[in-house]
Amino acid sequence: MNVMVVGGGGREHAIAWKVARSEKVGRVFCAPGNGGTAVEDKCENIDIKPSEFSDLADFANKNNVELTIVGPEDPLVAGIVDYFENKGLKIFGPNKSAAKIEDSKAFAKDIMLKAGIPTAEYQRFTDYDEALGYVDKKGLPIVIKADGLAAGKGVTVAFDREEARGALNSILVDKIFGESGSSVVVEEYLEGEEASYLAFTDGKTVLPLQSSQDHKPVFDGDKGPNTGGMGAYSPAPVVTEDIMNYVTENVAYPLIKELKKRGIIYKGIIYAGLMITGNGVNVLEFNCRFGDPETQPILYRMESDITDVISKCIDEELNSVEIKWDEKPSVCVVVASGGYPKVYNKGCEITGIENAEKIKNVKVFHAGTANVNGRLVTSGGRVLGITAKGDKLQTAIDNAYKAVKKINFSNMHYRSDIGNKALRRMK
Ligand SMILES: Nc1ncnc2c1ncn2[C@@H]1O[C@H](COP(=O)(O)OP(=O)(O)O)[C@@H](O)[C@H]1O
Ligand SMILES: [Mg+2]
Repeated sequence: MNVMVVGGGGREHAIAWKVARSEKVGRVFCAPGNGGTAVEDKCENIDIKPSEFSDLADFANKNNVELTIVGPEDPLVAGIVDYFENKGLKIFGPNKSAAKIEDSKAFAKDIMLKAGIPTAEYQRFTDYDEALGYVDKKGLPIVIKADGLAAGKGVTVAFDREEARGALNSILVDKIFGESGSSVVVEEYLEGEEASYLAFTDGKTVLPLQSSQDHKPVFDGDKGPNTGGMGAYSPAPVVTEDIMNYVTENVAYPLIKELKKRGIIYKGIIYAGLMITGNGVNVLEFNCRFGDPETQPILYRMESDITDVISKCIDEELNSVEIKWDEKPSVCVVVASGGYPKVYNKGCEITGIENAEKIKNVKVFHAGTANVNGRLVTSGGRVLGITAKGDKLQTAIDNAYKAVKKINFSNMHYRSDIGNKALRRMK
């Protein structure tokens, strides 16, 4: 069968690569893909944006695409799944009303409250003075979240009143996030270690993937501004088997049941951002899709055919599925353009990928890359995700950094401590 992958980041390269490894798959079309999917076995880029639903659906019809997999949240939130399903096309991901768990933090919090899912205490506000009054009542630190999608920039963890006031003002008065900022969630600050829980669901059964942990801040030691993610590893030792089972039973199942009560069938990936505290597990947020970069190390460890699992999700037969995983831990080190997440250059020539991939147990997933006149150049902030496995986590980390050292482009930046938190915990 032919498959289409919607999106063009590192996550989508990992999905396309994994799909292409299925014996059942003929061609994989990536819309729009990147410099990596352009040369990946069986893969081919097509020049259609994830927002152009009718062009995507026409392409799927004309090219015998039997399955479409959506990477990013924006098309899901905008209803790409509803659009495809109305045309009788098979597509993997939640529909518009289910994707609201990511599109609205206030909606997600309300679901959590009603479903008894452990999460920080909160209130929702549309009025600036009332919100500030709540901040003063609760005290610091406190967390302020724009309600809607804000490309990872909508959350402020405020340690002083001025910071909290500034965040409320930007969101509710200046409306820097536009519609996304018509309301805010103000919530209790939780201290602990973060981890990512991902699971497949068909709306009835929940089938977890392996645990993982992302590294959001741009510099070593979790310093500097937050990014889309500078690296990840899987499994995350902070997520014990007990915690994994706890989250499946006390977060994922209550979530799909509460949605069902409201007439919403959730099919796709459930992503719960966890804060693991001394007092247990709390959910910080839900995302409605695979994480980036968590998907790179997770899918690198997945042994089963992903198209089987996804087809069973769509057909609501997930209860018959088991996923086989490679026991070897994996790590993804993101190589970014210097200056990201602020100002950075594009169009810098990238070399060394072939040499990096000669190292055993290494795969280079592309993110912000493009082929221009036969040269591979940078085209975004996060450029590559160097992904590696090893018998032990330390070996996986060593393999990843050995490969990173082979890569070169002007002003490249990466964190040198991806996975260290896990190493410390295991000691
Ligand atoms: N209640 C909280 N307590 C402490 N830190 C938080 C809390 N909520 C969010 N954060 C921090 O802010 C980051 C972003 O918040 P999140 O809810 O994941 O929103 P988004 O990913 O949409 O920006 C989290 O990864 C976490 O580091
Ligand atoms: Mg998050």
